Amino acid sequence: MGRSAVVLLASRKANVVIADVNDKLGAECAEELREQGAQVTFIRCDIAVESEVKGLVNKTLDQFGELHGAFNNAAIPQAGLPLADVSADQFRRTMDINVTGTFFCMKYEIQAMLEGGVKSGSIVNTASAAGVVGVPMHGEYVASKHAVVGLTRVAAADYGKRGIRVNALIPGAVRTPMLQGAMDNDPGLEPYLNSIHPIGRFGEPDELGEAAVWLLSDAASFVTGACMAVDGGFTAI
Ligand SMILES: NC(=O)c1ccc[n+]([C@@H]2O[C@H](COP(=O)([O-])OP(=O)(O)OC[C@H]3O[C@@H](n4cnc5c(N)ncnc54)[C@H](O)[C@@H]3O)[C@@H](O)[C@H]2O)c1
Repeated sequence: MGRSAVVLLASRKANVVIADVNDKLGAECAEELREQGAQVTFIRCDIAVESEVKGLVNKTLDQFGELHGAFNNAAIPQAGLPLADVSADQFRRTMDINVTGTFFCMKYEIQAMLEGGVKSGSIVNTASAAGVVGVPMHGEYVASKHAVVGLTRVAAADYGKRGIRVNALIPGAVRTPMLQGAMDNDPGLEPYLNSIHPIGRFGEPDELGEAAVWLLSDAASFVTGACMAVDGGFTAI
């Protein structure tokens, strides 16, 4: 999903910084887009480490001068266990990345936007359908994504009058490496997921990338604090 958004942003002539713990994929994506003439850089960052997130935002400002938009999309999936079987370490790890990591990103992005005097900043956090409804066997992930929805709403309220919009994407099941990993371990998962989306299929990463880029753009100028379902109707039923 992050890659889809980056490709779209680059095609619209945005200057883009890709940040990820995965050096190889991040650097390859940046290189591929640079070869097509885009202004795209990769910076390795573990969002669970505050100093790395601060460094990421500072390096972004050094390179491009201002920060106008951010897509906080990194997360780890669930262990797939009933709640009482989730270990304390797994629970903390999920919270460290999905919640505290998203908080660190928002904190330094918002500071950069405010200090830069940006007139129309936009932040998009990827939550999940698991951020608005409960999903069996996804306890720590559901808790983490509900927290991302909460952070989004509070930041929208705190910074709306200062020109920063903050929204959350609510994807249903989307065909990405994260989901593919789960499907590889459970052959029944794919037909099951198809059946619980009213639209009868999964989403594709580009369908989420489009939504993220729209929320980042001035076309969404009156949208803030929204939890935008891009979920094939999953949360409608
Ligand atoms: N795929 C789905 O069905 C689905 C559904 C709902 C929500 N989501 C959410 O969508 C977002 C994107 O997921 P995806 O499906 O594209 O998964 P993905 O695994 O393809 O992408 C997630 C990326 O986050 C990076 N990442 C993980 N931990 C990190 C860390 N500590 N610091 C920096 N980067 C880190 C990974 O390296 C990876 O590149 C996630 O927030 C996920 O929870 C996915």
